[in-house]
Amino acid sequence: MGLKLVINMLLILMVLSSTSAGRSRELLAGAAFDVTTAKYGAKPNSDITQALANAWKDACASTSASRVIIPKGTYKLKEASFKGPCKAPIEVQVQGTLQAPPDGAQLSKPDTWIEFSYLDRFTLSGSGTFDGQGQKAWKENDCHKNPKCSSITVNMRFHSVKNSLVRDVTSLNSKNFHVNVLSCERLTFQHFTVAAPGDSVNTDGIHIGRSTGVNITDSKIGTGDDCISIGDGTKQLTITKVTCGPGHGISIGSLGRYPKEEPVSGIHIRNCTLSNTSNGVRIKTWPNSPAASTASDIHFEDIIMNNVGNPILIDQEYCPWNQCNKQASSKIKISNVSFKNIRGTSSTPVAVKIACAKGLPCDKVEMTDINLKYSGKQGSITSQCSNVRPTITRVANTLACATKS
Ligand SMILES: *[C@@H]1O[C@H](CO)[C@@H](O)[C@H](O)[C@H]1NC(C)=O
Ligand SMILES: *[C@@H]1O[C@H](CO)[C@@H](O)[C@H](O)[C@H]1NC(C)=O
Ligand SMILES: *[C@@H]1O[C@H](CO)[C@@H](O)[C@H](O)[C@H]1NC(C)=O
Ligand SMILES: *[C@@H]1O[C@H](CO)[C@@H](O)[C@H](O)[C@H]1NC(C)=O
Repeated sequence: MGLKLVINMLLILMVLSSTSAGRSRELLAGAAFDVTTAKYGAKPNSDITQALANAWKDACASTSASRVIIPKGTYKLKEASFKGPCKAPIEVQVQGTLQAPPDGAQLSKPDTWIEFSYLDRFTLSGSGTFDGQGQKAWKENDCHKNPKCSSITVNMRFHSVKNSLVRDVTSLNSKNFHVNVLSCERLTFQHFTVAAPGDSVNTDGIHIGRSTGVNITDSKIGTGDDCISIGDGTKQLTITKVTCGPGHGISIGSLGRYPKEEPVSGIHIRNCTLSNTSNGVRIKTWPNSPAASTASDIHFEDIIMNNVGNPILIDQEYCPWNQCNKQASSKIKISNVSFKNIRGTSSTPVAVKIACAKGLPCDKVEMTDINLKYSGKQGSITSQCSNVRPTITRVANTLACATKS
């Protein structure tokens, strides 16, 4: 009798614990809102703009963790705004391919295809693709001379997104920047892919501005402009294990073009490989800046350059299309910058160029273990430096700012 009671109690305990474990697993995975269910009605090869908006609205209102699912298949999406705040952690899982309208001027916000905003504990995941269909926009891009140009649609904007993760998805052929990150905190991109042809215009991979604690890791970026560009107000940014190419490299700036820019600091770029890019790692600031600011605590380490133009570059006279007065000095003070263990090949003879501002020399620039070879035939490898006295450790004379220009 006593034994039977104990066995019964054990059985009851086992049943209880297994159901509550099951329930908490379900909570962790989140309630699912699949856009292709009858309630939302999305179908492959048709427009799912409304279905997705409805699924997001329900998921965002859910008081427990939730997940919006776009299954495998190709779908047309006119635009999307994933706007919070939501009531609980929320995930958007994209397994399919989403296609933007080829003409961005038709969008209700022509500068944005997809926007994620005012979110906390958000995850974007899945093996899916965001296809910006930018081919027509690149051909018509005249934005460098026409301020009302129409080729301005960014594939994905993240605005005020915190404690969040973007993983595994691909941004393809954006009309303009692929990703624009603004006013975000602790946002990680992991195993993220950006793909567009090397000659697509202004298609920066990930642009970050006014954000703190962004991490980009294990990612592959090939595009027509900077793989990653870092704008004013970026702090505590870590970039590791990123491959870049084709593209224009990894760039801090351009800075100092507008008044009221915020300082850039705490930038760590490690274990990255750049291939066939027009620049390597660079800091660029406009001359004649309207206001003073700073760029400091910036560190590049363990970087491999394969056939890269200007592998190491600080340019404080950045002035594309001659839109500025080069006589006036940049007012952006650059300090505490290190380049360590940077090796491989340069496609330009000037492999190291550190051109600091005339009126405002760079401080505390360090170069350690720089091992670059020139892969072309236009003379021999060299460095050009001005308004800087770098600390040099294990760098060949030719690359060590020994010849002043
Ligand atoms: C970002 O990377 C840094 C350095 O590796 C790490 O300390 C930090 O925890 C990471 N932040 C997030 C949100 O993953
Ligand atoms: C980072 O680079 C260093 C130097 O090349 C190398 O020893 C290390 O294994 C790399 N780490 C990763 C995680 O790739
Ligand atoms: C770089 O360009 C060379 C020559 O065009 C090509 O063979 C190589 O595959 C390219 N590398 C990458 C990583 O794109
Ligand atoms: C320079 O950068 C290093 C590495 O991040 C940091 O520890 C140090 O505090 C910085 N020094 C100054 C003077 O900002």
